[in-house]
Amino acid sequence: MTTATTTPAPPMTANAVVIRSSVLLESLPEPFYKDDSVTIYCGDCREILPNLKMPKVIITSPPYGVGKEYESDCDLEWEYLVRGFIHASGKAMNGGEYLALNLPDRVVLDEQLGMRPVMPVVWRDVCTSGLQLYDKRIWKKDPCWMRDRWHACSVKSVSEIEEIYILRKKGVSPVVKAIVRSIAEARDAARITNKQIDDHFGFNGMSGHWTNADVQPDVPALEHWEKLKTFLGMDGRWDDEVKRQSERVRSRMTDAEWTEWGSRQVWEIRSVRANDDHPAKFPEMLPSRLIRLLASNGDVIVDPFMGSGTTLEAAKFLGRKSIGIEKDEKYCELAKRRMAQGVLAL
Ligand SMILES: C[S@@+](CC[C@H](N)C(=O)[O-])C[C@H]1O[C@@H](n2cnc3c(N)ncnc32)[C@H](O)[C@@H]1O
Repeated sequence: MTTATTTPAPPMTANAVVIRSSVLLESLPEPFYKDDSVTIYCGDCREILPNLKMPKVIITSPPYGVGKEYESDCDLEWEYLVRGFIHASGKAMNGGEYLALNLPDRVVLDEQLGMRPVMPVVWRDVCTSGLQLYDKRIWKKDPCWMRDRWHACSVKSVSEIEEIYILRKKGVSPVVKAIVRSIAEARDAARITNKQIDDHFGFNGMSGHWTNADVQPDVPALEHWEKLKTFLGMDGRWDDEVKRQSERVRSRMTDAEWTEWGSRQVWEIRSVRANDDHPAKFPEMLPSRLIRLLASNGDVIVDPFMGSGTTLEAAKFLGRKSIGIEKDEKYCELAKRRMAQGVLAL
């Protein structure tokens, strides 16, 4: 999302119970576009998203409720859209997965009510969807549209920052649980005890994490996996997953990148200069950083408010599979053309 207009958002009702989208699709619709790495669905993300159960990271920017052209046919209020989307995300996400959400910190209601902060409006939905606030990044934009405001009689500042809320689904991933259950089965079949496993490795209690799916389950690090498999007589069916799980988060970037932006809260990224084909495009650097920060090997990158397809393009550039959902067919066409053109260097 880049700039905001001054058109007031539709009124928000404070305590209304949400979710227009009780119409959940039983299965995924036919894709609008599909190639080896990208799938695009044309439709309402609140209906489609809950069907995407694969390991994933969601990176997205919903409409801001500021009267942009693509908001004019939102069939319900902006609040319902965002809150319904959060519930749909909660249904789609597996334990431990992330949702990076670019939301405004406030929306304009009307002359009477003035501005209203956004996070308190969606907070209850975040909690009831099993999500928790994990982190927040600030996208510091350049005030490239500042000149527009020099003629206004307002003392309000020009918006120069945007918030990226990083939400995380509580719980442990089903894959971790499945691996740990498998280890426990192999242990029982071999008539070996947890104490014997600990003694074999010279640990004290680690075997409990490797074999109990209900209490702090954990997958063995790669360097212990082969030894454990041999000890318990297990086959290699979980090899790829164990490799994926034990990928060290900090190895996703170089030390210089961690220092420069990975561990920094404020990201200075220029906004898109020409929003000529879509009114609110991400600069590619933004989804690109979020993908590198949050995605494990094999995670599919999902953007449920895909717009022009910037997140999908960044994913493609980084060699990741991605899925976009967009309700407006003309933006699906735009993203499809973008994908067919091949990706640009960031
Ligand atoms: C802020 S824009 C996203 C722009 C995108 N990040 C980009 O770089 O192009 C939000 C998009 O969500 C779409 N949208 C609005 N309601 C939707 C819904 N219920 N399901 C899917 N897409 C929706 C709009 O048409 C718009 O293109």
